[in-house]
Amino acid sequence: MSDIKSLRQEIVAKTIEYYEAKFAHKDFIPGKTRVNYAGRVFDEKEIVNAVDASLDFWLTEGRFSEAFAEKLSEFLNIEHVLLTNSGSSANLLAFSALTSEKLGDKHLKPGDEVISVAAGFPATVAPIVQYGLIPVFVDVDIPTYNIDPEALKAAITPKTRCIFLAHTLGNPFDLGTVMELAGKHNLWVIEDNCDALGSKYKGQYTGTFGHISTMSFYPAHHITTGEGGAVATNDPQLAKLIRAFRDWGRDCYCMGGENNTCGKRFSQVFGKLPLGYDHKYVYSEVGYNLKMTDWQAAIGSAQIDKLPSFCEQRKANFKKHTAILSKYPQYFILPEATKNSDPAWFSYIVTVKDDAPFTRDELTAYLNSQLVETRNLFAGNMTKQPAYINRDFRIAGELPNTDKITGSTFFLGTYPGLTDEMFQYMEKVFADFLSKH
Ligand SMILES: Cc1ncc(COP(=O)(O)O)c(C=O)c1O
Repeated sequence: MSDIKSLRQEIVAKTIEYYEAKFAHKDFIPGKTRVNYAGRVFDEKEIVNAVDASLDFWLTEGRFSEAFAEKLSEFLNIEHVLLTNSGSSANLLAFSALTSEKLGDKHLKPGDEVISVAAGFPATVAPIVQYGLIPVFVDVDIPTYNIDPEALKAAITPKTRCIFLAHTLGNPFDLGTVMELAGKHNLWVIEDNCDALGSKYKGQYTGTFGHISTMSFYPAHHITTGEGGAVATNDPQLAKLIRAFRDWGRDCYCMGGENNTCGKRFSQVFGKLPLGYDHKYVYSEVGYNLKMTDWQAAIGSAQIDKLPSFCEQRKANFKKHTAILSKYPQYFILPEATKNSDPAWFSYIVTVKDDAPFTRDELTAYLNSQLVETRNLFAGNMTKQPAYINRDFRIAGELPNTDKITGSTFFLGTYPGLTDEMFQYMEKVFADFLSKH
């Protein structure tokens, strides 16, 4: 036994040595090293945890999953956190839960309308379409890039049943208005918090206002598990439904390796099944398997300890971009935090003004040729994407800002891997480009 313990200690010590040798020191060579818009930021703790999970060889949901879910739950101060294999799965699960007939009259049905925006990531909209509901696209405001509250009010009809929105690139949407309208019209609210973990609205973390919220731990996000995500809710019934949809649709909620925690495994009647049919194999929802592995959770467990400092670095990097780009007010619309919010910015979003002597694409082509990575605001106008063009959706009013974003907006990174040397380099690259225009 002690041999196993000392072997483990030896492996951990070697892992730390390996981290030091392979990852600890990074040189930045201007013009040669890419300035990524995002990326994983980690130290030896993440690798040690991953190795630890490998040595456990538990493989599925286990001790690290429990610890990670608990830390997330503590961070957000939210009762139930369910880990998933991606943020897209988290969105699918959040939405699936609301389609359950167990919610009685409140369950979402095909043909119901769900308010969202077209300027975003498709994973927020896909579940609405997949379940046969109608996404209603509302225009966004520039420079917050979030739903226009007045247009949102105008979009609500008797068919509206849910509001499903992302906090765009970490900037909280107007939660005051959204929650007030949801209360008034009896609507579900799902917060897609995938890009905003650690952002605050009126001093409270985003992801804690709506009925359900989701997170993504893909490497571009605030913390990473490689692939991964989570769903959070304070509602025990919704938590149970999310778990059922996540775990094959099954009614039983025992963890892997557990049995008969309810004490009624062989003594209940379900559907038209015979009395006492094994509860472990009773399916009360048409579900999936979207669980996280213990390796992913082991990495997440180390990452989340860094989340507060990551968020501070993202805020500081946002200010550094502003210091550089505010020198060019004639060319750029710079991002602004939503009123009453404190965003842990996912990125720095910029719109090229209509009368600038260059286009967004000319600028981003130059930046990327100089190894300064940029991205567009995801799908641009989603209604113009091949996958969505022929789907049933409704556009509430018009989408002029969404169209403007499609053609003129891009973003730069704010992730904690950016250094002062990289900012100095980016400042020079912008100055070089702009001096030619
Ligand atoms: C707002 C938003 N929601 C959901 C997702 C999907 O997350 P994942 O890549 O983990 O599936 C993303 C993308 O990364 C996103 O930006």
